[in-house]
Amino acid sequence: MEKYFLKVEQLARRYPEPRGGAPLTVFENVNFTIERGEFVCIIGHSGCGKSTILNILAGLDEASEGLVIMDGREVSGPSLDRGVVFQGHALMPWLSAKKNVEFAVRSRWPDAGRAKIDEICNRYLSLVGLAAAADKKPAELSGGMKQRVGIARAFAIEPKMLLLDEPFGALDALTRGVIQDELLKICAATQQTVFMITHDVDEAILLADKIMLMSNGPGARIAEIVVNTLPRERSRHTIHKEPQYYPIRNHLVDFLVSRSKLFAEQAPPGYDPLRPPLVTPGLESGGPAIPISLRQPAIAALV
Ligand SMILES: Nc1ncnc2c1ncn2[C@@H]1O[C@H](COP(=O)(O)OP(=O)(O)OP(=O)(O)O)[C@@H](O)[C@H]1O
Ligand SMILES: [Mg+2]
Repeated sequence: MEKYFLKVEQLARRYPEPRGGAPLTVFENVNFTIERGEFVCIIGHSGCGKSTILNILAGLDEASEGLVIMDGREVSGPSLDRGVVFQGHALMPWLSAKKNVEFAVRSRWPDAGRAKIDEICNRYLSLVGLAAAADKKPAELSGGMKQRVGIARAFAIEPKMLLLDEPFGALDALTRGVIQDELLKICAATQQTVFMITHDVDEAILLADKIMLMSNGPGARIAEIVVNTLPRERSRHTIHKEPQYYPIRNHLVDFLVSRSKLFAEQAPPGYDPLRPPLVTPGLESGGPAIPISLRQPAIAALV
């Protein structure tokens, strides 16, 4: 059996230049893997190609080069195996919140009876705090509420993989915290595999097992992969007391503030896009062990 649940190989996305010049390369040489049950976040500046990668993983966009293998099969179109929360909510405006979720649930379980469909829809709408708004149409909902319907719809189909494009960006801090906690619970209970885009470094540290850092475009690449060495059982209230917390946070912020641009100008010596370095900020070489599943020969920088 293939060791990795998801494998991305040599992915590139290029757009033709309308005036016939050289094509625009948004990203190229993108390689990474995700294990079953792993939660992976990707961060990088606006326009570097994060949503494009997620859409290719969803089967909604085509790569110019490279391939994506999920669960032993090449991704070549959309599938109910992958639940997507889009950066925009992407709801059907003529359907109520509940009917939007129901549409996906019926596609997933075409033979399910009314009671079962109702139970699933109500459970996930309640989870995102929208039980009382189930019959409202998207135009009657706030931006954050629409986003929450999208989250309920993706969770409700219990996909093999969740693809989340800044899912909590439009939510107030309190609601975001509640849904992040629920997401952690769902992941722990179901071994859910997640690929999530976020601009929020604290969110990434709270949720992710690995955080992929994408350099600035054009020609963006996965510059490095930060291993989250905090205990997996973590809570937003105590996470900042973990000794690893600030080293990881500072490393991420430093990448976004300066290294993402420097990397785009010149990749560090020895950088191999086939195996972006795994880094463990704050850990000395020989310090607390990296989980076996994450030990790869490419641990280049122990910061
Ligand atoms: N049809 C197109 N033609 C040319 N360039 C395009 C096209 N669609 C997208 N792009 C470019 O692809 C790049 C990547 O877009 P993408 O939406 O993936 O970025 P992103 O990293 O998700 O950004 P953000 O953080 O702002 O959401 C952008 O620079 C965008 O201009
Ligand atoms: Mg985006």
